[in-house]
Amino acid sequence: MDSDELKREEGSWIDAGRLDDLPPGSMRRIDGASQRVLIANVSGTLLAVADTCTHEDASLSMGVLDGETVRCPLHGSRFCLRDGRAIDEPAEVDLACFAVRVVRGRLQVYAPNPEASLTAPN
Ligand code: FES
Repeated sequence: MDSDELKREEGSWIDAGRLDDLPPGSMRRIDGASQRVLIANVSGTLLAVADTCTHEDASLSMGVLDGETVRCPLHGSRFCLRDGRAIDEPAEVDLACFAVRVVRGRLQVYAPNPEASLTAPN
């Protein structure tokens, strides 16, 4: 079954590439028409949050992954990847969180908006 079949069968679970391409200690951005999602592999636990910093328009995927937190590359706010919580100012608003699962070696992110067409890497 390829990723297109998964999308049709699973509705809003969106293919996000191969698990093997996201080793522990790494993160990746998935781009969509209406949202960008950051997926991180934290010691084997897969976590996903909105990729855009809530302070200004910065991609957190360009920041630094440090344990269960990501540091914004622009002004340094840290966010908890488990619950999206903004830990440091200047960001004061938490990030949205997304469910992640693995199906036959492929990452899938749950897009709450079925119209969101996230683009996964190959
Ligand atoms: S843009 Fe992220 S802390 Fe300012």
